[in-house]
Amino acid sequence: MKALVLSGGKGTRLRPLTYTMAKQLVPVANQPILGYVMRHLSQAGIEEVGVIVAPETQREVREYLRDGKRWQFKITYILQERPLGLAHAVKVAQPFLGGSPFVMYLGDNLLGSGICDAIDRFRAEPADALVFLKHVPDPTAFGVAELDERGGIKRLIEKPRDPPSDLALVGVYLFSPKIHQAISCIRPSWRGELEITDAIQALIDMGGSVRGEVLNGWWLDTGKKDDFLAANTVVLDEYTRRDILGEIDAESNIEGRVCVCKGARVIRSEVRGPVIIGAGAEIVDSFIGPFSSIGNGSRILNSVIEHAVILEDAVVDGVGRIEDSLIGRHARVIKGQGCTKALRLMIGDHSQIEI
Ligand code: DAU
Repeated sequence: MKALVLSGGKGTRLRPLTYTMAKQLVPVANQPILGYVMRHLSQAGIEEVGVIVAPETQREVREYLRDGKRWQFKITYILQERPLGLAHAVKVAQPFLGGSPFVMYLGDNLLGSGICDAIDRFRAEPADALVFLKHVPDPTAFGVAELDERGGIKRLIEKPRDPPSDLALVGVYLFSPKIHQAISCIRPSWRGELEITDAIQALIDMGGSVRGEVLNGWWLDTGKKDDFLAANTVVLDEYTRRDILGEIDAESNIEGRVCVCKGARVIRSEVRGPVIIGAGAEIVDSFIGPFSSIGNGSRILNSVIEHAVILEDAVVDGVGRIEDSLIGRHARVIKGQGCTKALRLMIGDHSQIEI
């Protein structure tokens, strides 16, 4: 069985971060989302992985994943010139996939459980497609499944205005090579994309066997800021262990599950886990509260941070309190000299500031 990881697309919903980085590389608990995807594929024993990349972001995706040896598999990069849809990506990857069954994993999806059991079940009881479903509060943002009386999949619709159920399609799919034939039958949707949801529907219409399984563990689509913070919270809660590799001075207090990476320094500060403090970061005269990730090389001075993600090499200095926030790489949030009420700002396109 091969794997196809989708790491192309535009990432418009996470702007401005995604002007300068691929959305699949935005770190959750200081690890790029793609790192979690690759770990699941490696645990499932996959040996050949095709990675769909876009012209604008392929360089950094390749730099992070390299040849895949770190995860004990071989990576083949597949360039998709334009983001013309998930089924289009499969079409572009056809020479790599050949006649093999494969798992398709969307590079911005995070799953709590791995995919080993699902792959075993797919091998034991082959089908043309196995999709995962999850009950969600707002199904209009996803592909949605309508089930028949016996729980089988009757119909799939992409981002319906009037959803027939609250069962969303999760971004992990198992396919037999018959999916290529189904893709050749579909036309672009209203948003101009070849939808994988339409291709699976075509598979059903062709008489193919399509199974759905409701996912038990958590699933997070990291599309927008709040989803992204939710993902960070869940991952920190689940994976953070107390691990102090950096330096903590005698006046600091570290409580609970806090990971302080190599070369990080905590001076006259309080940190309350779950929190991760990246390599080389500096926390001085500050409070870092639960569910915060401080990126490598960032500096937090005289500030309070809670439930926030601060990416690499950012500086937060003299800021009363920052919460529910996402701060990009090399950003500077600082109290102005002698400034009390007036705000002096330099804000990039598509930034969002709540005052
Ligand atoms: O997250 C689950 C949802 O993913 C499903 O419920 C939907 O049925 C499915 O269509 C998909 O919807 P999104 O609108 O969230 O997909 P998005 O455009 O965000 O793309 C998902 C991933 O695939 C993302 O990492 C970018 C990548 N991609 C996307 C397109 C359109 C590509 O590599 N190439 C593409 O052409």
